[in-house]
Amino acid sequence: MSIEIKNLEFAYDKNLILENVSLSIPHGNFIVIFGPNGGGKTTLLKLMMGFLKPSKGTVEIAYNKIGYVPQITRYDKQFPITVFELVLTGAISKCTWWGSYPQSIKQKALEALSQVGLSQLKDQSFGSLSGGQAQRALIARALISEPEILLLDEPTASVDTKSEREIYKLLMDLKGEITILMVTHDLQPILDKADLLYCVRKKVFPLLPKDACGHFAMGLYHD
Ligand SMILES: Nc1ncnc2c1ncn2[C@@H]1O[C@H](COP(=O)(O)OP(=O)(O)OP(=O)(O)O)[C@@H](O)[C@H]1O
Ligand SMILES: [Mg+2]
Repeated sequence: MSIEIKNLEFAYDKNLILENVSLSIPHGNFIVIFGPNGGGKTTLLKLMMGFLKPSKGTVEIAYNKIGYVPQITRYDKQFPITVFELVLTGAISKCTWWGSYPQSIKQKALEALSQVGLSQLKDQSFGSLSGGQAQRALIARALISEPEILLLDEPTASVDTKSEREIYKLLMDLKGEITILMVTHDLQPILDKADLLYCVRKKVFPLLPKDACGHFAMGLYHD
């Protein structure tokens, strides 16, 4: 199980977003992806998920069960479903044709909600959650499929410090068992936890945590 990207190039129409990207991520690694707004981080995750196709090069992702926590936007919150139902959609392949889920999956959904500290809000509509609560619901949704790899796009962007700490603790419990790729602008709290960092600015630069310059942690990107 691994990810291999070779000489990847991606453009939206004629607008080149990613150029000459090659990387290889061994199973069990915890990878942090950072870089300026518009640098191509979300695009890179979407290419890994197969939502987008590279204009050049190849993406090989040798995993069956992928968990994806999308970067949250106001639009995403318009789903007219409860928090519990949203979490269940993470196991949509287990849903019967008449629209019910096995008891074991419902149990897993409750456990995942408890892991992210949202048990109390399970019957509230997803759209009514705060940004940080919605983010945590999306993490629970990704966890119930018991993924072999978890891709998280700014999972702590609108989350308070306490919940942020809980999310990192959850990720640390999963670390080593599954591969984790996390996009974040907030480098400082996870520098000592990452195996490798990638700075994405059209090109992708690998970086060891010990070599991450303090400027990057402050959002000042340079060569
Ligand atoms: N559907 C789309 N059509 C055209 N251009 C797009 C589309 N989605 C993204 N882009 C452009 O591609 C570039 C990279 O976007 P991307 O979302 O990957 O950046 P990002 O690194 O995730 O930024 P952020 O930190 O703001 O989330 C941006 O210039 C963006 O405007
Ligand atoms: Mg993004």
